[in-house]
Amino acid sequence: MNITVIGTGYVGLVTAVCFADLGNRVIGIDVDIEKIKKLKNGESPIYEPGLTELLKKNLREGRLTFATNSKEAIKTSDIIYIAVGTPQDEDGSADLSYLITAVRYFASVIDHKVIIVNKSTVPVGTGNYLKKILLKENVSENLFAVVSNPEFLKEGTAVSDFMYPERVVIGSEDRDAIESIARLYEPLTKNIIKTDILSAEMIKYASNGFLATKISFINEIANICDRVGANVREVAYGMGLDSRIGDKFLNAGIGYGGSCFPKDTLALIDIGKKAGYDFQILESVVRVNENQKRLFFEKVKANFTELKNKNIAIWGLAFKDNTDDIRESPALNIIPWLVEAGANIYAYDPISIENAKRLLPEEVNYINDAYDTLKDKDCLLILTDWKEFKQVDFKKMKEYLKAPTIIDGRNLYKKDDLKKLGFTYIGMGI
Ligand SMILES: NC(=O)c1ccc[n+]([C@@H]2O[C@H](COP(=O)([O-])OP(=O)(O)OC[C@H]3O[C@@H](n4cnc5c(N)ncnc54)[C@H](O)[C@@H]3O)[C@@H](O)[C@H]2O)c1
Repeated sequence: MNITVIGTGYVGLVTAVCFADLGNRVIGIDVDIEKIKKLKNGESPIYEPGLTELLKKNLREGRLTFATNSKEAIKTSDIIYIAVGTPQDEDGSADLSYLITAVRYFASVIDHKVIIVNKSTVPVGTGNYLKKILLKENVSENLFAVVSNPEFLKEGTAVSDFMYPERVVIGSEDRDAIESIARLYEPLTKNIIKTDILSAEMIKYASNGFLATKISFINEIANICDRVGANVREVAYGMGLDSRIGDKFLNAGIGYGGSCFPKDTLALIDIGKKAGYDFQILESVVRVNENQKRLFFEKVKANFTELKNKNIAIWGLAFKDNTDDIRESPALNIIPWLVEAGANIYAYDPISIENAKRLLPEEVNYINDAYDTLKDKDCLLILTDWKEFKQVDFKKMKEYLKAPTIIDGRNLYKKDDLKKLGFTYIGMGI
């Protein structure tokens, strides 16, 4: 197939590279000139395990190209994938302006039948809205089909999530278009859900809303564990063995972040509101998530009589492990609160320091080595569950820290072990 992918961010780039690797001819389009320049040179603008290798291979083998101008590409495309951002608008709803701009841009050059596939996360009804825009732009009804094919990849494992999906959702009113898109995924999975466009759009939001709910639920259990002396890790293990519950997304901590859950929960609440329904559970989920960061900050405050001039080491700035993405990371709230309280911050993250510099207060000091960050500090705060923080040299940590205190927002260690080694260890519900 000849495929155009519009938007080469986390989702679009992975989509373009993986479809090329499956044997399609793919062109990735982006308005970001710097991004396209890098991509043409085989350099990935984002960190994603396995992505650079596949990018280079498919560029070399001629199946993958990149451009800032898509009009020529669209003339030879069978399928146009849209994977532009749909960020949160001021009122919590999804901002569709990038999507609308993209559609208007290619509408004028559609001169043969194309399937327009939306991969961006969009409010229920957006597919039908796109149809209206295309008709308004004088694209003939028989020259296009609109399909919703929401993406479920996770940053940090995006390439393998794409190549080995648990399910693929394809929604459209056009059966032929559904079958064409299904054929693209046939090498990857048997679990292809063919449905109507509105349900496909809703599956994405409902999935993210449910996952966020699981996180806020276990975080509230953790908060109660803190008060009654139970250990949330034991509790989650005991719950997770029940197959109706499952053991995923039951790690208590400082809450969810990233470019999806925060905006998608708010957008789903907004979708409900516009349809005349208050999504009460999800409203609480959002509130609990905001509060969780505050609770962590309160734990840090409680550890000191005064935060002013305390030297605090931070491990982890990204919203999760294995990504350089810091969008909506809890670190973006917690660190400014610490700075405001007069603490001196020394932060380390394996790969997201450059991204963090753009968003964190200028007072923050960045250190390029995890252990060096600890030297003479009054405590260590862990904000991201990076694998490299899980297996550490506790002896060295104790030697470097001025006070052997770890306040762990990701519950990486066992309290008893740390106690035996002479640390003060404070987690979330453990
Ligand atoms: N990041 C994830 O983990 C993830 C997972 C599933 C779904 N999603 C959804 O996928 C969509 C994209 O997310 P992302 O994280 O890849 O976003 P992103 O911000 O990383 O990338 C979006 C890209 O689109 C480009 N763009 C914007 N307008 C354009 C236009 N008119 N023409 C061409 N390019 C344009 C931007 O320059 C940017 O490179 C969102 O709706 C998001 O909710 C994201």
